[in-house]
Amino acid sequence: MDGGGIVEQRRETVGSVNSRVGYVHKISMKRKKKMVMKKETKKVRKQNATAIQELFDSCKLVFKGPGNVPSPPDVRSLCRILDKMKPEDFGLSTNLHFFKVTGAGKGNSRVTTTTIYQSDKFSLCIFFLPASAVIPLHNHPGMTVFSKLLAGTMHIKSYDWVSPPNSDSSQLRLAMVKSDNVFKAPCNTSVLYPTTGGNIHSFTAITPCAVLDVLGPPYSKSDGRDCSYYKEFPYSHFSNGETRELGEEEEGESYGWLQEIDVPENSEMDLIKYLGPQIIDTD
Ligand SMILES: [Fe+2]
Repeated sequence: MDGGGIVEQRRETVGSVNSRVGYVHKISMKRKKKMVMKKETKKVRKQNATAIQELFDSCKLVFKGPGNVPSPPDVRSLCRILDKMKPEDFGLSTNLHFFKVTGAGKGNSRVTTTTIYQSDKFSLCIFFLPASAVIPLHNHPGMTVFSKLLAGTMHIKSYDWVSPPNSDSSQLRLAMVKSDNVFKAPCNTSVLYPTTGGNIHSFTAITPCAVLDVLGPPYSKSDGRDCSYYKEFPYSHFSNGETRELGEEEEGESYGWLQEIDVPENSEMDLIKYLGPQIIDTD
């Protein structure tokens, strides 16, 4: 199992993908071997390239740049493509040792990420989470994000804001739970929007996972789309003494208090170069 792998050691900083993702650690050879893919036959490579090309071409039509949210028909068409995507479409095999390691607390739980494509309109990234790894609660300001779990079993918890922003961002802010579910691949795509669909979310890997994120537009600190992290408190804590009558439509929903925090240590990720089927950008 060597050659043609999806990963290659890279020493650059994460840069504009997410300025808060953190610095890059050297990927050890041991780890590299865990994640490389089998060499593809020419036929398989062509099929996989077709799938990723279809995704890319659709993204170019759907994402029109900062300030734009894809229309419902565009969201449906992108979901149709993503729903049927498989690890093989990105040169990954679930036969890899990485995906066979089960159980929590076994060794390194750092998240690894690779960027397939990035422009100012959208980006395509894959995150690799060992069992028990966490991508802590974070937001996607002004962004629409499609998340497709390619392999593994993952718990996703997400929130949308209920109360308006506080002048002091460290104060507790009320949010509604939009998802608190376990997803097992293969499963359909989750979509979040700038203010709905669970814009603030966390991923916790129950087994080793690979998840594809399509972000439109990507994070950009200079454009006001930096990533913030949050700590959650149960609704019953109500620690700031605030009381609030729930509307009729809100009764029966779950809530939590979120407090913005500094970048958590476990948000640092290793960056690897994407070496799977390539995209052809005709522009
Ligand atoms: Fe996210």
